[in-house]
Amino acid sequence: MSTIRTIIAGTGSYLPARVMTNDDLSKIVETTDEWIVERTGIHSRHIAADGELTSDLALAAARAAIADAGIDAQEIDTIILATTTPDYTFPATAVTVQAELGLHHGAAFDIQAVCSGFVYALTIADTFIRTGQSKTALVIGAETFSRLLDWTDRTTCVLFGDGAGAVVVKGAAGEGTNADRGVLTAHLHSDGRYKDKLYVDGGPSSTQSTGHVRMEGREVFRHAVVNIAEAITESLAATGLNADDIDWFVPHQANKRILDGTAKRIGLPPEKVVLTVAEQGNTSAASVPLAFDTAVKDGRIKKGDLVLLEAMGGGFTWGSLLLRF
Ligand code: UT7
Repeated sequence: MSTIRTIIAGTGSYLPARVMTNDDLSKIVETTDEWIVERTGIHSRHIAADGELTSDLALAAARAAIADAGIDAQEIDTIILATTTPDYTFPATAVTVQAELGLHHGAAFDIQAVCSGFVYALTIADTFIRTGQSKTALVIGAETFSRLLDWTDRTTCVLFGDGAGAVVVKGAAGEGTNADRGVLTAHLHSDGRYKDKLYVDGGPSSTQSTGHVRMEGREVFRHAVVNIAEAITESLAATGLNADDIDWFVPHQANKRILDGTAKRIGLPPEKVVLTVAEQGNTSAASVPLAFDTAVKDGRIKKGDLVLLEAMGGGFTWGSLLLRF
C-alpha cells in the first residue's frame, strides 16, 4: 500500500569552539578526570562563547543541514526547534532561526521535552508531513545548556555541554513496508510523577528567574535504563523488526554506562552504537542530531541503513524512533 514517508534529506551540526576538559573542571569543583570518565565516559565538552546564543548554534547546524540536503531554504515550510535553553522566554528561538534563514512563510516553533526534545520534534515533523501539513521541515535540537548549570554543584556541572544538530526532512512516496526509506515508527512517553528528579529550579511563572539544573542522578539512571529499553522494544514490536536488523543505534548521549547497559539489554553489539558523549558530554536536545550527523558524515550511517534513535530526560520524558536513512 503506497504511503507518505518522512525521509531525512540532509543532516548538519555545530559545536562551539571552546572545549572544556575534565581537568579544567577539576579547577572549579572538587572532582577528577578519573571520576568523571569512570562514572560517565565524558572526557570533554564544548561551551558556547559569551554572547553566543542557542539560535546561533541552531542556525549554524540548520545551514549545514540545508546545504547537505541540497535544497533552497525557501522550500522549508516548518521549523521545529527542540530546546530547554531558548534565547528568550519568548518568542520561540525557532522564529529567530526562521528570520535569519530569510523565511517569511510557514510555521516556526519551539518544543520543550528536555533531553527527549529532538525525538519529540522529529515525531511531530513526521506527523506534519504524513498528514500534509508540511512538505519540507527543518528539525533542530540546540542547547546552550551550560547556562543552566550551577558551577558549584559537581554532581551536575560535569555532565553537560553545548551544541546543535539539525535535519531537513521531506515527504516521499513509500510502499508502506519496512524497506521504505524514512521514519517507520515513533513512540513518545512522559510521566510527570518524576518531574522533581531532574528539573530547573526557576522559571518565569515560579521565580521570575532562569534557575539551575537539579538532579537525583542515581534515580534518573535507574529509570533511564528501564524506560529506554521499553521504548525500543515498542518500536521493534510495532514494525516486527528485531535488534539484529538495526544497523546503527543513535542514543541520547547522557552517560556511557546507560548506553552500554541499554545496548546490552536489547542485544546490540557495542560497534553498532554511535557514541559522542566522550567529546561532547550531554547536550540535551542536541545530542541525538549531533551524534546522527557525526555518524553520517564519517560514513558509518549509509543510505538504506536502519537507524534507531532514543532519548530520555526531565519530566520524565522518553521515546524511540526507527528510521531507514
Ligand atoms: O540527560 C538526562 C538524563 N540524565 C541522566 O541520564 C543522568 C543519569 N545519572 C547518571 O549519569 C549518574 O547517576 C551520575 C553520573 C550523575 C552519577 O553517577 P553515580 O554512579 O550514580 O554516582 P552517585 O550520584 O551515586 O555518587 C557517588 C559518589 C557520591 O559520594 P558519596 O556520597 O558516595 O561519598 C558523590 O558525592 O560520587 C560523588 N560525586 C562526585 N565525585 C567526584 C558526585 N559527583 C562527583 C564528581 N566528582 N563530579
